[in-house]
Amino acid sequence: MMRAEIAPSILSFPLASVFEPVREIVAAGADLIHFDVMDGQFVPPITFGAALVESLKGVGDILFEAHLMTETPEAHFEAFAAAGCKRIIFHAEATKHAHRLCQQLHSMGIQAGLAINPATPVNVFEPVLAELDMGLIMTVNPGWGGQKMISACLDKVTKLRAMAPNLPIQVDGGMDPVNLPIARQAGANIFVVGSYLTGPEGIPALMKNLRNVCG
Ligand code: DX5
Ligand code: ZN
Repeated sequence: MMRAEIAPSILSFPLASVFEPVREIVAAGADLIHFDVMDGQFVPPITFGAALVESLKGVGDILFEAHLMTETPEAHFEAFAAAGCKRIIFHAEATKHAHRLCQQLHSMGIQAGLAINPATPVNVFEPVLAELDMGLIMTVNPGWGGQKMISACLDKVTKLRAMAPNLPIQVDGGMDPVNLPIARQAGANIFVVGSYLTGPEGIPALMKNLRNVCG
């Protein structure tokens, strides 16, 4: 079984004061930071641009990944790479050229992640498996934090794991100490966690709860 990685999303923290929670998350041993970029087109909300990622560069030595919930994701590759993202995830539903976009990211020295929405079949990964550094299976409908996990999406995790035993597989949405082990059992190994980390127990304790169920 691949090592479990915890990928906190900053979406549920007040952005005006996000440096402190991100510093706490890094200190609590997160494996990477997941930036949820929304353009108001691919999904209704608008979140933030590369400038916010840039402003967090000094937070510590940790992988930054951008989850582009945007139309024409390739329009944002340069900006998020320059801002410090070493992995960029784009949606299969937002392009006709997933294969070429993976190659474009690799030519920039950036890891390529492909994401699919709950309504998208898992077989869209098939033709690009050899180009992918990671597959992201949404376990909520993209656009908002704090939603309930859509358990049916975990069947796609299991199918993708069978198609690609060594591919890092990320789940995104509704993760907490109850759902994380279920998603791990299904075959995921990277867990995006957003709103769970805003709980009153505080980030160190909440991160410990998550690490304790990673198995
Ligand atoms: C939703 C984002 C997710 C979300 C996760 O569109 O892609 O990363 O922030 O938040 P929780 O963990 O609260 O579901
Ligand atoms: Zn996300």
